[in-house]
Amino acid sequence: MIENSKNQTNIENEDTLTNRQGHPITNNQNTRTVGNRGPATLENYDFIEKISHFDRERVPERVVHARGAGAHGYFEAYGTAGDDPVSKYTRAKLFQEKGKKTPVFVRFSSVIHGGHSPETLRDPRGFAVKFYTEDGNWDLVGNNLKIFFIRDAMKFPDMIHAFKPDPITNIQDSERFFDFCASSPETFHMVTFVYSPWGIPANYRMMQGSGVNTYKWVNNDGEAVLIKYHWEPKQGIKNLTQKEAEEIQAKNFNHATQDLYEAIERGDYPEWELLVQVMSDDEHPELDFDPLDDTKLWPEDQFPWLPVGKMVLNKNPEDYFTEVEQAAFGTGVLVDGLDFSDDKMLQGRTFSYSDTQRHRVGANYLQLPINAPKKRVATNQNGGQMQYKVDRAPGQNPHINYEPSILGGLKEAEQIGKEYTPNIEGNLVRESIDRQSNTKQAGETYRRFEEWERTELISNLVSDLSKCDQRLQDKMVALAEEADEEYGRLLREGLAKAPKDGSSQAPLGNKDGVNATENAVEKGHEAEPY
Ligand code: HEM
Repeated sequence: MIENSKNQTNIENEDTLTNRQGHPITNNQNTRTVGNRGPATLENYDFIEKISHFDRERVPERVVHARGAGAHGYFEAYGTAGDDPVSKYTRAKLFQEKGKKTPVFVRFSSVIHGGHSPETLRDPRGFAVKFYTEDGNWDLVGNNLKIFFIRDAMKFPDMIHAFKPDPITNIQDSERFFDFCASSPETFHMVTFVYSPWGIPANYRMMQGSGVNTYKWVNNDGEAVLIKYHWEPKQGIKNLTQKEAEEIQAKNFNHATQDLYEAIERGDYPEWELLVQVMSDDEHPELDFDPLDDTKLWPEDQFPWLPVGKMVLNKNPEDYFTEVEQAAFGTGVLVDGLDFSDDKMLQGRTFSYSDTQRHRVGANYLQLPINAPKKRVATNQNGGQMQYKVDRAPGQNPHINYEPSILGGLKEAEQIGKEYTPNIEGNLVRESIDRQSNTKQAGETYRRFEEWERTELISNLVSDLSKCDQRLQDKMVALAEEADEEYGRLLREGLAKAPKDGSSQAPLGNKDGVNATENAVEKGHEAEPY
């Protein structure tokens, strides 16, 4: 029993239901009415509070990546990047010492469909990591695949409109998808991955991750290098055929969330190694692609993957909404020693994330425990919906909520390490990049696939493309021919044989003899790191 004031009957125990004003609720079954048949009364505060909170239980879902699952864990640094001390490339503190641990929160997701859509759909997967470093938060907002559809942020809303359901029918339509892709040839490399088994990872634990865009690392002398980030799963990589995905989806549309949650509950903690590729900070005219172009892979033989640390996920969220739904990641969230590159796509993304989060979660989203850094915060920002506290330093004069001031208040930090001050000049233009090379790497990727992956790719493309306008089929075949003679020929032949009535459903050439179980871990096909 909780002590009330003297001589009063105690009505509360530790588990007594209350409202948010702390009032004990004595009757949670019946509204207050005039007689037990009603009518109800408007002063029924407990009922009105309960129902009006329920009416507001949802925030807008993410405009993309709405379906996701999250977990907590830690990142452990190796102190090195391959054979070099990591300090050669970056002064970011989280990487420096071998064995240094930094807490992380990770959210995996699919991209196009809504909050409870099946986790078996063909789609890239999101792989967003929040590192709570001693210098504040660093977010690495990546995907499972290492490249992307487009290279200019200007095209992103159009691309997402084309991929999402039709605005009238509310049905996802491959004709709209291919209409955008055929008219944007830079998408062809990503289309090649997404229509292969790499477009349906078996689950979240057995997929790679990548920062996709090019970033920079800055060392103590203020020197920068270009960086690509890659996550390699210690569990191995597994992807699904279309048929396997359909078998799982028939029985379980939450399989990836369930797989992650159950693995962590049974103590089978998933791990990924973080590797980086390094390039000197220049335009690299010797390459046939632009290092800032996110539709391209950096060839591993020229730019080896250097391990820099590992990540372990060992704790499930205590509450989905509080932690996973309200989590807010952004590409602008960097710490000292990490920097942006000139990649214009990355810069467009960087505006978009915190903009949408102010709308989706609210102006003070960074005060929520899942988003706040695990270190002191002292700002002069104040007010806005749902402000939870003032970010004041201990002993700070509360009257001085501005800077600079002679009378007190917060002071600027000292610059540690030499500042990185790149010199940039050029005409202001609206132009695409020079080295586009839209189909060459798609051809290399096609040839690198195993035979069954190529068969799946062709059959999946035929299945969806055969329902589309002939002009789109012709354009996609032309892109495939440009990438690789066999790729183009097989796609053309497959389309010629496909039923013309759009009834081509199950993609051709799937592997047979797979048992229909609900568990993607028992299904799927192992793959080598890409
Ligand atoms: C210009 C291109 C892009 C724009 C404008 C953009 C915009 C967005 C927006 C508005 C969200 C929702 C964020 C939220 O509500 O919290 C989002 C989520 C996400 N984006 Fe992008 N995006 C772009 C490209 C990319 C690329 C290339 C990747 C892969 C590297 C990516 C990975 C993600 C991930 C993983 C999430 C989900 C984060 C989470 O789990 O909360 N995006 N993006």
